[in-house]
Amino acid sequence: MHPLLPQNMTDRSLLDRAVEALGSGQLVAFPTETVYGLGADAGSAEALARLYKVKQRPEKHPVIVHIGDSDQLADWAEAVPESAYKLASVFWPGPLTMVLKRSAQVLDQVTGGQDTVALRVPRHPVALGLLRAFGRGIAAPSANRFGHLSPTTAEAVASEIGSQVAIVLDGGPCQVGIESTIVNLSGAVPEILRPGMILGQEIEAVLACAVRAKDTTVSDSAADSPLRAPGGLPRHYAPETPMQVVPASELEKLMERLDAEGMRLAVISFAARPERWAKTVWLSAPGNSIDYAHDLYGNLRYLDRQLCHLILVESPPEEAEWAPIRDRLVRAAHTATG
Ligand code: TXA
Ligand code: MG
Repeated sequence: MHPLLPQNMTDRSLLDRAVEALGSGQLVAFPTETVYGLGADAGSAEALARLYKVKQRPEKHPVIVHIGDSDQLADWAEAVPESAYKLASVFWPGPLTMVLKRSAQVLDQVTGGQDTVALRVPRHPVALGLLRAFGRGIAAPSANRFGHLSPTTAEAVASEIGSQVAIVLDGGPCQVGIESTIVNLSGAVPEILRPGMILGQEIEAVLACAVRAKDTTVSDSAADSPLRAPGGLPRHYAPETPMQVVPASELEKLMERLDAEGMRLAVISFAARPERWAKTVWLSAPGNSIDYAHDLYGNLRYLDRQLCHLILVESPPEEAEWAPIRDRLVRAAHTATG
């Protein structure tokens, strides 16, 4: 049941209860178009302390403030650059987060003590309805425990943190499926801090200037260690089951070897399951990046429940539109194998 589905925003009582809960310092999980968020009143130190506790997140790790309208940018950020308004007019509401110089009112618990703040207007109607009814900023990391996969359904939220929040608003499966693109506009040159489904090249087109990409790239040339992750990647976006990303040309050879060792395997491939692997847990992934991203975390959660020794994921294509997916896969594999 989805009590707050977009077409059912007339269910005022649930929305009112969520607003009331936020106003009294409690936590509300809510859908956004990217992933579900774990929301707290961004103006309440007590609510933020509760958020960090439930999330089991290290302090000093900043959170995104969600706002209902770009009008509120200047409440949270100081000296908002023209570039921010340009991007807002094109991409908000939507899956883009902007990092800007913080204004004096922003609590240290939001920014991790940094002099910047991350802001986003999400476009999911339930998120927007909640933000507009609440009228203030909602600090919301993804609604998973720290280091786990981001939830893309209300059921996944419930299994991560369900008992520790006042309300989980159910808006159905998230449309985008992976976290927002984060662009830092607080420096001299715009920089992508986290790739997402709004691509660097789209941001460049709007700003009409070059945008730096923080290096999240990887090489998948090494035969024995495909898609090797660079050192120092945070433990993030990970299933519990070890995971490895493998070029298509090496997948079946590797499977034969591991199968001979008695390993129970799960696979995400672009191909249909070959007859030879009839007994293997095998998901055929969509060949376009938008559908792939939509399904990704749900697929990994599903495979994580299959009691396998290893999840093998066929390498995605090299094109720019797959970059955010490659980023998430590498992080997940890094955690599992490193
Ligand atoms: O799609 C999303 O962005 C989702 C939904 C719920 O909006 N949220 C999300 O939040 O992914 P979280 O907390 O899981 O990831 C936020 C990222 C973190 O990597 C954090 O370091 C970064 O945003 N961040 C937050 N504030 C920042 C700041 N002031 N400067 C740089 N990075 C910041
Ligand atoms: Mg997260």
